[in-house]
Amino acid sequence: MIKVPDFTENGWADPRLAADRARWCCERLEEGAILFFPQSPFVLSEADRNFLLGVRQAGASYYKNISYRPAEDRVKGFDRGRTDAGTLRRILREYSERVIESASRLLAPYAGRWRIDFASFRPFQEHGRQLSQIARNDLLHVDAFPTRPTNGGRILRVFTNLNRTQPRIWITSDPMEVLAPQLARSACLERFIPRRPWKKLQRVIVRWGRRAGLPLRDRSPYDAFMHHFHDFLKLNRAFQEECPKYRWEFPPGSSWIVFTDTVPHAVLSGQFAFEQTFIVPCDALLQPDKAPLRILERLAGTTLTN
Ligand code: SIN
Ligand code: FE
Repeated sequence: MIKVPDFTENGWADPRLAADRARWCCERLEEGAILFFPQSPFVLSEADRNFLLGVRQAGASYYKNISYRPAEDRVKGFDRGRTDAGTLRRILREYSERVIESASRLLAPYAGRWRIDFASFRPFQEHGRQLSQIARNDLLHVDAFPTRPTNGGRILRVFTNLNRTQPRIWITSDPMEVLAPQLARSACLERFIPRRPWKKLQRVIVRWGRRAGLPLRDRSPYDAFMHHFHDFLKLNRAFQEECPKYRWEFPPGSSWIVFTDTVPHAVLSGQFAFEQTFIVPCDALLQPDKAPLRILERLAGTTLTN
């Protein structure tokens, strides 16, 4: 974990150095670092914090978190009978806007190139949470979205711990650059290589269908493998027990940023967090060779997005 140098120290505040700072932050993230801010730049009013701490989530087994979709200004997954929908939507919208604005400055090389994905509010206590093994947050995994393929784009997430007194506790393991050469073969990467011509044809047909307005999902071999790898890691007892582990405590009021498709992570405890996701396309990266897509393509010996 790397504490982002205080912007008033070391000349970082100098506007002429803003571009250097942005490159430095992107490079560290792409290498698998967690950028850490002891004081979150996204401050919440006391009234809004009190409101959020009282929010109730809908049927816990159906929705994993409360999600906010910036493009539609829509919230999902809360108990409509017990929560004022308008207030919740306003708070999540404001949080999402503030994160996007700050991240656009902090990570300037990505701004305008990324796709802004969903945000979430996480009101559950993660310690002892009852979820299926694949859904469990306390098992190490890399993120992959089964319903929102990235086609090689990377999953960048900004978190904030809203809890007044308790830290959010994570463990992480070595990034994909180390992990994939060790485990991609036993996770059957071979099986995802698009060898058969009909597989390629299938994707061409899906794309035509999508253009014609059919609700089809165009999932690249990369997306299919990453989804499989997410499950593979959670189900792999030897990996969970024996892999190197690094423990992090994110104190109340702190924020952190990480590529969660690169850094295996698990949350052991903590309650009340915000999160905003961005999808960064490979051609916006400063070191594309470190992207999981390129790492897996080197191992597979072929492209995984056609
Ligand atoms: C996750 O992305 O696996 C959960 C992280 C968190 O909620 O702190
Ligand atoms: Fe995750």
